[in-house]
Amino acid sequence: MKTIETVGEMTELAKAWRKEGKQVGLVPTMGYLHQGHLSLAKAAKLDCDIVVMSIFVNPTQFGPNEDYEAYPRDLSHDQALAESVGVDYLFAPQPNDMYPKGYSTFVNVEGVTDHLCGAKRPGHFRGVATVVSKLFHIVQPEKAYFGQKDGQQVAVLRRMVRDLNMPVEIIARPIVREGDGVALSSRNVYLTDQQRQQAVVLSQGLAQARELFIQGERDSEALKKVVTDVIGSASLAKIDYVELVDGDTMASIDRITGKAMLAVAVYFGNTRLIDNLILEVESESCFCS
Ligand code: PAJ
Repeated sequence: MKTIETVGEMTELAKAWRKEGKQVGLVPTMGYLHQGHLSLAKAAKLDCDIVVMSIFVNPTQFGPNEDYEAYPRDLSHDQALAESVGVDYLFAPQPNDMYPKGYSTFVNVEGVTDHLCGAKRPGHFRGVATVVSKLFHIVQPEKAYFGQKDGQQVAVLRRMVRDLNMPVEIIARPIVREGDGVALSSRNVYLTDQQRQQAVVLSQGLAQARELFIQGERDSEALKKVVTDVIGSASLAKIDYVELVDGDTMASIDRITGKAMLAVAVYFGNTRLIDNLILEVESESCFCS
């Protein structure tokens, strides 16, 4: 595996691959890799000739009071993990190479960013859409892999690719969880032991909602209530939102008639955790993941 540290070198490599007709898969990350990130690289490895994983803690997607400086970083550990799953190139540029002096172009995806994390973290998805567009232009992948853990991010990027005719297929992969159900996240390292123990309430609440859904419940208030009650049982949890939204537009819905996402964001101290569940009604049958 080779680590590429400049935009210039990455651009040249990508141009050469394109000429050679190589199928390139991109896995964008902010590093501090865990099995969730690695599951994306493994999926890319099965589909593509060349797998590029980017590691870039993107300053433009963090709010002024968020954890950009504190965000965990460990490039040498990430290199070992990425290599172990067959990543061919790690692209780890510097902030001033991605955003040089005078940088002033941003990608704003409207509508789908009005809800959930978009409403709670103003400017966040503008930063995500901008950096992912830049990575697509630099690496020129045929396919790009994202985790359903960040369900709204997937919806935003699908919208962006469609709207801007980007020739990239967005592939969403399932949420990877710890043994007790907690979704893997680079931010889990911020949790104290007690907070980490209580963090199971996110996935437990969603699991109970899934049971209700399987029994036939389609009403938003009923599904949200079970999640809110379970999370409320944790003394250290502070709910940011519990929402049932349309699976594509991310707008709130009252009843599930097609594809929906039940999404939660919860604070433990200053650490904000998110999780979600897809609930889908297909004519007579139902599907959930
Ligand atoms: P980051 O949080 O590092 O996540 C990188 C990718 O890994 C995202 O697609 C995310 O959804 C996925 N991921 C994280 N935890 C996961 C889990 N438990 N199971 C499955 N996939 C998981 O998301 C970002 O970085 C950034 O916003 C980025 C897209 C790189 C743009 O800066």
